[in-house]
Amino acid sequence: MIKFISAGPGDPELITVKGMKALQEADVVLYTGSLIPKEVLSWCRDECLIENSADMSYEDIFAFIEKHHTKRFVRLHTGDASLFSTVAKQVEFLESKGIEYEVVPGVTAAFAAAASVGVEYTIPGVSQTLIISRVEGRTPNPEKLEQLLSNRHSSFAFYLSIGLIKKLRETAYELGYAKETPCWVVERASWGDEQIYKATIDTIEDKVAHIKGVALILFGEFLNQKATVESHLYAKKYKEEGERKSKAL
Ligand SMILES: C[S@@+](CC[C@H](N)C(=O)[O-])C[C@H]1O[C@@H](n2cnc3c(N)ncnc32)[C@H](O)[C@@H]1O
Repeated sequence: MIKFISAGPGDPELITVKGMKALQEADVVLYTGSLIPKEVLSWCRDECLIENSADMSYEDIFAFIEKHHTKRFVRLHTGDASLFSTVAKQVEFLESKGIEYEVVPGVTAAFAAAASVGVEYTIPGVSQTLIISRVEGRTPNPEKLEQLLSNRHSSFAFYLSIGLIKKLRETAYELGYAKETPCWVVERASWGDEQIYKATIDTIEDKVAHIKGVALILFGEFLNQKATVESHLYAKKYKEEGERKSKAL
C-alpha cells in the first residue's frame, strides 16, 4: 500500500493528523524535495528509509516504489497532492502494477496564501468562483489565459507563474481590466520567511522581480474584500425571514 500524503504548504503544523500518523508509522518515505518542511521528516522512526525524489526521473521513482511497495510506504507531496503534483502519473503506474494506494489531502498553497493575507475568495456580489491555474509558459495550458481572465467575476490564484506577470498584465489589459485591479503575491506562504507583496496589476511586476522561488499570485477585485450585495448567511433580514418560515411550519 502506497500512501500519498499531502505535506501542506510549509508550516509543519499544516499537515493533517492522518498525514502525521502515516509518517510516524512509515518504513519508507519518498519526498518531493526542498518544499517539504524538514520537521515533518523528523517524525519518522530512526529505521525509516527517507529519500528525496528531487533528482529522480519517473523511471527512478517507479523503480524505487516497486522495490519498496510491500513496506509501509509514504509518498510525500507538497501542498495538496491533487494540484500540480504528478500524482496522476504515479497512480497510473501503480494501477498498471496492481499496487494499492491511498491519497491523504492537505492544505494547498492557495489556501495558505489566503490565510496569510487574511482574505476570502468568495465575496458576495464580487466573486463566487475561485480559479486555480497557471499562466502558460513552457508548460502548455489548454485553457488560454484570455479565456480564464474573461471570467471577470472570479478570484484567481496562479501557481508556477511568478516569472510570467508581464503576460498576465498584458492579457488583463487586452480584456479591459483596470490598472488598479489588485494583484498580490505571497512568497513562501506559511514558512517562517514568508513575504507578502500587495500592489495592482500595473505595479506588482517590479516589486516581485527578485523572486526566484516559490510564490503564488492572487489576482482580482475580490482582494478589496468589499461585498457589493448582502450575504444571505448572516444578514438580519434573511435570518428573520428564515425564522418566520420555520415558525410557520
Ligand atoms: C509544483 S507546484 C506544487 C503545488 C502544491 N501541490 C500545492 O498544492 O500547493 C509548486 C508551486 O506551488 C506554489 N506554492 C507551493 N507552496 C507555496 C507556498 N508555500 N507559498 C506560495 N506558493 C506556493 C508556487 O506557485 C510553486 O511554484
